[in-house]
Amino acid sequence: MKQKLIAGNWKMNGSLAANASLLQAVLDGSKGMNCHVAVCVPSAYLAQVQVLLAGQSLIALGSQDVSAQEVGAFTGEISAGMLKDFAVRYAIVGHSERRQYHAETDATVALKAQRALSAGITPIVCVGETLADRQAGQTEEVVRRQLAAIIHTNGHCISEIVVAYEPVWAIGTGLTATPEQAQEVHAVLRAQLKAATSNSDRISILYGGSMNAANAAQLLAQADIDGGLIGGAALKSTDFLAIMAAGSKTA
Ligand code: 13P
Repeated sequence: MKQKLIAGNWKMNGSLAANASLLQAVLDGSKGMNCHVAVCVPSAYLAQVQVLLAGQSLIALGSQDVSAQEVGAFTGEISAGMLKDFAVRYAIVGHSERRQYHAETDATVALKAQRALSAGITPIVCVGETLADRQAGQTEEVVRRQLAAIIHTNGHCISEIVVAYEPVWAIGTGLTATPEQAQEVHAVLRAQLKAATSNSDRISILYGGSMNAANAAQLLAQADIDGGLIGGAALKSTDFLAIMAAGSKTA
């Protein structure tokens, strides 16, 4: 079985001081962990966190977004090439908060994934249904449509991506998908990836949405859950370490 990937998404949280003490505590507690780990930090702190992570190999650096454009007059955007300058390994693309608040479409998200891949950065492509979608029985249709756009644009290197299933209704709400609900959707995504590439086994499919120290082990034990994308619980070293420990046990 492949090693789990435990990725923290700090969202718009942190400060120079808070980042330094959080990462120090995570690094101090991480001896013997047997999983891949990443922290996806606000862009303003990429340079700081690159330095804080220098000289160790457990925790990789990630961004929370990447521009769909390569270079030029796009005020406020950050290109994949710029991220690469700071040794960024992962870039979250298509997080539901960006789809919702920045009107990102499936096509834009697919282009962002393409930009990341061409710079040698692994996109963590987020998909997930809203509560209304789920209640209307459209969960499968929505996540399949979101992933299809990525496959359409990135088919030739689709085995290089990471997918994160994040049901929108579970994000920041304390409501977690049950392990069975999550596994059901992960199996759908796995089948879709299998149809797209003979290398689908190497693609990690993460679960995100109120994953915490108490529920991580059960979620990570599911057959098609290869890790977690963690918001709130990634901001507390003890919680994040507990999730890393759960990911190490189920490796
Ligand atoms: P929470 O873990 O805070 O629910 O956030 C999940 C998420 O959106 C990670 O990208």
